Amino acid sequence: MGTMTIAIYPGSFDPLTNGHLDLIHRGARLFDRLLVAVGVNPGKQTIFELQQRMDLVQGCIGEVEGVVEVVSFTGLLVDAAKEHGATCVIRGVRGASDLDSESSMANTNRTLLPELDTVFFSPAPEWSFLSSRLVREIARGHGEVNKLVPPAVAQALQQRFPD
Ligand code: PNS
Repeated sequence: MGTMTIAIYPGSFDPLTNGHLDLIHRGARLFDRLLVAVGVNPGKQTIFELQQRMDLVQGCIGEVEGVVEVVSFTGLLVDAAKEHGATCVIRGVRGASDLDSESSMANTNRTLLPELDTVFFSPAPEWSFLSSRLVREIARGHGEVNKLVPPAVAQALQQRFPD
């Protein structure tokens, strides 16, 4: 048997969007195992607590759940990758503006852990404009998010920001 390649997909997932879900499906196809790593950043306010962010990811991954595991991480991504035996980080790059910050993050992580590679995925074009930040703004303003996030996330947002 060859080696298993484990990839880690880190993010805040505040909340999970259809763009994230698209990447999870692409990652699960390419790698033997995919860890969705929900980050805890003590200095950053989130609209959902860690447990709810993780539950929403877990509840929305459906049929890919056999190869996808949801974990949390605090501190450095390279330490989480080491802990779980992941040799590859995946991140979505929506366009030129993402590339700057993502390249910097990838190179920083490579400095810290040279054997860890970052692979950039190009999300499906229908999600190229989408971000958790925009979803939060729309939800705060009681706008329609049904086309942007899975149904369970839309429902959680409705409860988080009741009209
Ligand atoms: O969903 P986001 O906010 O784009 O995710 C950013 C995240 C959590 C992946 C990034 O901030 C991160 O990896 N944080 C952990 C801290 C760390 O390892 N920093 C050094 C790498 S630049």
